[in-house]
Amino acid sequence: MSDLERDIERLGPWFHNLHLPDGTQTNPAHPLGDFPSFKWQKLAPHLPEDLSGATVLDIGCNAGFYSLELAKRGAEVTAIDVDPHYLEQARWAAERYGLARSIRFREGQVYELARANRQWDIVLFLGVLYHLRYPMLGLDIVSRCVRRTLVVQSFEVPGDEIEHAPENLELENREPLARPGWPRLAFIEHSLAGDCTNWWAPNRACMEAMLRSTGMRVVSRPLEEFYVCEPDPDQPSSMWSWNEDEYWAATGGRP
Ligand SMILES: C[S@@+](CC[C@H](N)C(=O)[O-])C[C@H]1O[C@@H](n2cnc3c(N)ncnc32)[C@H](O)[C@@H]1O
Repeated sequence: MSDLERDIERLGPWFHNLHLPDGTQTNPAHPLGDFPSFKWQKLAPHLPEDLSGATVLDIGCNAGFYSLELAKRGAEVTAIDVDPHYLEQARWAAERYGLARSIRFREGQVYELARANRQWDIVLFLGVLYHLRYPMLGLDIVSRCVRRTLVVQSFEVPGDEIEHAPENLELENREPLARPGWPRLAFIEHSLAGDCTNWWAPNRACMEAMLRSTGMRVVSRPLEEFYVCEPDPDQPSSMWSWNEDEYWAATGGRP
């Protein structure tokens, strides 16, 4: 066994199957396939090839697959995750690629970004929303960090139907709420795939409605469950139009 293979074993288990510069893979037997390379192949054309001078925030970076890909394109990346195990993998991998100076990894909660008071050109929020007990709060916080592009992915309830919500729903007209295309978050009380940190599954209509409500416009959907968005100047976040006080109370006060 080579030193590299020994390091991979010591740092495991791996969720990301990274292809290291010499071709060695960190989890070639991943049950989802070559994960997340097969997703990146579809997402990659939707992001600029040259990211020199651009800033990127990767929330829930895990072993850093996406951070590494965007750093390879020239971006300065900030990458956060709650799990030190994954951050150790990510820091080790960045060294192998010679990209350690382009990516700043740090342990942190998505909610802590409420006090970041800054924006990044591109924000990746992949595979994290459904892990949050407070998903709308998480999305409100994340949307405030976006200067140009937000890419979101969530585990979803199956179904592509989209019910266009009326401006107002009358109390005596509740039937639309039960239609398949009504924006819906399914609550997971116990566990999903053996993981008790999975709390919610939105349907597609819900993802798009929540994004609109945070002031985001979906510009493309490169693959199932992935949304590439940009701030919508014509429809700013509802947070500022009616519930700003609630946001600041939930996030520990105005800066
Ligand atoms: C399903 S993995 C997704 C990893 C990667 N973003 C991807 O799409 O391949 C979820 C990651 O989010 C991290 N995570 C979960 N809850 C988080 C939170 N509240 N704040 C930041 N990271 C979180 C987990 O530790 C894990 O690395």
